[in-house]
Amino acid sequence: NSMLQWQRTGFHFQPEKNWMNDPNGPVYYKGWYHLFYQYNPDAAVWGNITWGHAVSHDMVHWYHLPLAMVPDQWYDINGVWTGSATIGPDGQVYMLYTGSTNASVQVQNLAIPSDLSDPLLLHWTKYEGNPVLTPPSNLLPKDFRDPTTAWFDNSDSTWRIAIGSKDDSHAGIALVYKTKDFISYEQIPGLLHKVAKTGMWECVDFYAVSASLSSANQAIDTTVLATMSNSQDDVRHVLKASMDDDRNDYYAVGRYDAINNKWKPDNAQIDVGIGLRYDWGIFYASKTFFDPVKQRRILWGWIGETDSEKADIRKGWASLMSLPRTVLFDVKTKSNLLQWPVEEVEQLRLNSTTYNNLTIDTASYFRLSASRAAQLDIVAEFEIKNTTLEKAVEADEEYSCTTGGGAAGSGLFGPFGFLVLADKSLSEQTAVYFYISRNSNGSLKTHFCHDETRSSKATDIVKKVVGNVVPVLSGETLTMRILVDHSIVESFAQGGRTCITSRVYPTKAIDDAAGVYLFNNATAGPITAKSITIWEMGSSNNRSYNGNDGQP
Ligand code: FRU
Repeated sequence: NSMLQWQRTGFHFQPEKNWMNDPNGPVYYKGWYHLFYQYNPDAAVWGNITWGHAVSHDMVHWYHLPLAMVPDQWYDINGVWTGSATIGPDGQVYMLYTGSTNASVQVQNLAIPSDLSDPLLLHWTKYEGNPVLTPPSNLLPKDFRDPTTAWFDNSDSTWRIAIGSKDDSHAGIALVYKTKDFISYEQIPGLLHKVAKTGMWECVDFYAVSASLSSANQAIDTTVLATMSNSQDDVRHVLKASMDDDRNDYYAVGRYDAINNKWKPDNAQIDVGIGLRYDWGIFYASKTFFDPVKQRRILWGWIGETDSEKADIRKGWASLMSLPRTVLFDVKTKSNLLQWPVEEVEQLRLNSTTYNNLTIDTASYFRLSASRAAQLDIVAEFEIKNTTLEKAVEADEEYSCTTGGGAAGSGLFGPFGFLVLADKSLSEQTAVYFYISRNSNGSLKTHFCHDETRSSKATDIVKKVVGNVVPVLSGETLTMRILVDHSIVESFAQGGRTCITSRVYPTKAIDDAAGVYLFNNATAGPITAKSITIWEMGSSNNRSYNGNDGQP
């Protein structure tokens, strides 16, 4: 029915039908960006996991290809699970993935392209000696999965991979193995890292980011990650794990000591699993890859559904991919990453409306111009007048997005921001906003939040207020970017220091009835948007494979 059809997106990647979860083995090969993903070809719920496959020249327009791998061997008959790609110096592509065996043991397997001259990598050959790695005897055989992309260590000329697990005290752990040929592996003693009480670490990712001011925009190829540990001041190493316990992707910035096989967070207070998240909404099982074309690191995340399984079955599909996001170290704060939709997304920008110095009174809202408000890219900059800021001493100290009363609440300096996917009566609306509170030392603290609680009239949906603090440095204005795409709202504050993704299911604010509003509930006074630009976004019009080998 049309209401369910409406929820399909215009420019986010999703399979033509059925269930998807984790992104797998993202890689650039012979002119194509490849995206594989956990896929159930038979239903809109998890199960019978295969590898779906799609290719694109720009990560925006996709061709859906045939399944890359299916469960057809004893060592993956219960599922071809998550894995990563490594390209060797000779051009060989190594795909390492987890197989759930006939006994539901988690083993690591190797697959290589059947024909390296095929840019589409349509056919895959599983290594005859699989599995190449079985769980060590001290770990649970069902908690040893999701190998990373390999990195090369010059000290002993071996490749290294990390795999996540948990120990018997419920600490999350990352183990490292070395291999010369991707066939035989040896565990390196000790753990790369461990964090108490964080439970099973799924989909570990490990990569280097440039921390030098002059090359901050330059990403570092994973395969040379270990070499980079020699120039510690210019480089940081990011360790990320997907926490099975709370279903969020946590990362921490730190340093890697390749010789001792140890990674350490820069700040132990915000270690992996207890500090920063890639995204404060729904975003999981993500993975990065190095793009040799534009020398950048790109992050893909799985965006699940927050409606019911029944609704997913009715609509015939479940899950989206996040927009591909470039990832950089924030050389200004030196404490977090910056995530930003790849620039190719901007190709889809159509007509735009810009507002300059738009001032909005307290306790009011203002309808912005956008005739097709279901697919938008919104960029906004706010400035809070100094006279207003003088009242800061009166701002509240206790605030968090999750407990702060949402968009309907009001405090001295917030909330203010946008209502997207909103109908004329505002009975349905998803709010994206800032709220400024105060630290005990008097300094200001900015929060970036999504309020999903009024996003849909439907009753089978999990709706929350989510978000977190966003660092704002002295002299900076407040900036946000919001991408709206039918049933997803993906938002970035301060250039991507804090990100939030929500799945929303409007029943009224659809088609021409969807609108976008500016709102201000801050009691301190009017808020000025220095500039707001709203683009209507085109669709990526993904295509099906035409059946000819060699061309999509
Ligand atoms: C993460 C995950 C992985 C596993 C895959 C199975 O969502 O559970 O740990 O390999 O999905 O589909």
